[in-house]
Amino acid sequence: MRLGVNVDHVATLRQARRTFEPSPVFAALIAQQAGADQITLHVREDRRHVNEEDLKLIKKLVIVPVNLEMAPTEEMRAIALEVKPDRVTLVPERREEITTEGGLDVISMEEYLSQYVKPIKEAGIEVSFFIEADEKQIQASKRAGADAVELHTGRFANLWNEHRFDEARKELERIREGALLARKLGLSVYAGHGLTYQNVKEFMRVAGDVVEELNIGHSIVANAVIFGFERAVKEMLSLIR
Ligand code: PXP
Repeated sequence: MRLGVNVDHVATLRQARRTFEPSPVFAALIAQQAGADQITLHVREDRRHVNEEDLKLIKKLVIVPVNLEMAPTEEMRAIALEVKPDRVTLVPERREEITTEGGLDVISMEEYLSQYVKPIKEAGIEVSFFIEADEKQIQASKRAGADAVELHTGRFANLWNEHRFDEARKELERIREGALLARKLGLSVYAGHGLTYQNVKEFMRVAGDVVEELNIGHSIVANAVIFGFERAVKEMLSLIR
């Protein structure tokens, strides 16, 4: 299993004082050194955490692939085409949300997305859609030209954190089924959102063999504040490999 370390919340701490520290660029380099397979970051419309300067520096300095999460807007596409991350992950975005809630509704945007992704793909950037593990969303993603899907684990994570273990396992089964369908369609399959040092073990037990990569941010950064970034990344790696 590959690990993409999302460094957004290092910048959340920086933005609490709008100063220069801690730097998500520094965190990305340490994560890479600790064994992360990818650096992930979400440049949001309101720039509440990382911004395009962070993205440019991370792209320039890290050797592992960079995965840019972004809303499918003209502004973000221009940034992606300028910086050329290795992958673009399209996510839904609402200003008032605390974090990305729900997956991209590819079905209702299929025509728009199939046009939207063309220049990104032509630039040699892999395109992934962040979606619920729903059969129709997966099929629509394939039709719209996605190379990959990232399946939303937020519902599983919430159920697990509330100790609703039976429902959490059912949700994991749904994710597993979705992953199998996506693979059958020739899509690469990733997963993420809300994963922690506790619930990731159950994820691995049920769906670890059908997903290629996990993108994890908040829990790693939260533990890094207490134990250090290197240790936080290494401990997550030890749980998923
Ligand atoms: N994957 C996607 C597509 C996301 O939007 C996020 C949150 O930015 C994550 C993974 C990581 O989620 P978390 O910070 O809860 O680990």
